[in-house]
Amino acid sequence: MSPYAHITGWGMAVPARVLTNADLEKMVDTNDEWIVSRTGIRQRHIAGEEESTATLAKDAALNALRVANLNPVNVELIIVSTSSPEHFFPATACLVQDQIGATHAGAFDLSAACSGFIYALNMATQAIRSGSVQNALVIGAETLSRFVNWEDRNTCVLFGDGAGAFVLQAGDEIGGLVSAVMRSDGSGGDLLSVPAGGSNLPTSPSTILNNQHTIHMNGREVFRFATRVIVQATKEAIASAQLKIEDVKLIIPHQANLRIIEAAMRGLEIPPDQYFVNIERYGNTSTASIPIATCEAIQQGRLRAGDNTVFVGFGAGLTWGAALVRWSGPFLPHRHIYPASYRWWVTIRSKLLRLVRRIEGWIWGRNV
Ligand code: ACO
Repeated sequence: MSPYAHITGWGMAVPARVLTNADLEKMVDTNDEWIVSRTGIRQRHIAGEEESTATLAKDAALNALRVANLNPVNVELIIVSTSSPEHFFPATACLVQDQIGATHAGAFDLSAACSGFIYALNMATQAIRSGSVQNALVIGAETLSRFVNWEDRNTCVLFGDGAGAFVLQAGDEIGGLVSAVMRSDGSGGDLLSVPAGGSNLPTSPSTILNNQHTIHMNGREVFRFATRVIVQATKEAIASAQLKIEDVKLIIPHQANLRIIEAAMRGLEIPPDQYFVNIERYGNTSTASIPIATCEAIQQGRLRAGDNTVFVGFGAGLTWGAALVRWSGPFLPHRHIYPASYRWWVTIRSKLLRLVRRIEGWIWGRNV
């Protein structure tokens, strides 16, 4: 019998710097009343000079490993879902692998915008259920503030930076991701995009001058699409788990706009105490929003072992998806692991590998 993929660890990380609506009033023609009434957002965290998608992803991963009591060397797969990777390549997941000392892990990035965490969770679950890996790390991490046009009030008030991570572990008991829905519609790709910087329109002085390297969005169309697909995907995920909506303890939707969440939940006839919202403090952290919200739901005692929960998201692509998860909690800890305490060894190891590579290059270079 194939094993189940339990979620045994969770962690989050957000930048120290907070940007409030009052701060934004000084930057663009907007005001707190408009932002709160149209989006529900009061503040967001913005990455500072020393912070990036990889540093946030690494911090969230270490927190999740600590909760799971899992040594990083036992992680066999790392998937980082992101739309604001550290580089085109190498993958942000590889930087995280090096920084946490996951010496036995394969690592790659996944791009499905705000739906990416659900896609990544499903991919890692399938890897565990097939028996190919025992332990996986799924991370959603973004620094979309680096891709926002800070003069465009239509978009700059919406986004925030942050990361969230889950540890997945194989287990024979029923639990973890029970069903998943992944959908896409590329015909709506132009509704939400960063037009320049890719192979179609490489970065040039003119793309920068025209702000084509920043986020462009048709807000009204995305709004309409979002409210429709959240309802559809949630219903599909619940039905394919052969459950009813009454069996679900908590819905954790992507935090893009409070009005979108409320409209979709009305459509599902779900009362406010059955869905989770924290957009007021983080804004839209894209693929990181669901794991960050999950961490806070657990902290507030709203999600416990044995509960059925639905994660549901939507985003650029267009993409959308939902997952029904039977929440597990950490496996019984045999001993306490403090993954961050491996950092000195991890740093030395990484530096040694670089040095060996340099010496080898020097020897081979001289002999050629
Ligand atoms: N402050 C003040 N006024 C503003 C601001 C602002 N920050 N932004 C827009 N306005 C103005 C507009 O210019 C417009 O003025 P006009 O009527 O004179 O032209 C007016 O407010 C209303 O604009 P709308 O676009 O109709 O406002 P709406 O109520 O639709 O809210 C919003 C806009 C918040 C963007 C909404 O459409 C939305 O949230 N859409 C979904 C966006 C989303 O979820 N994106 C992320 C997807 S996830 C991912 O993949 C990253």
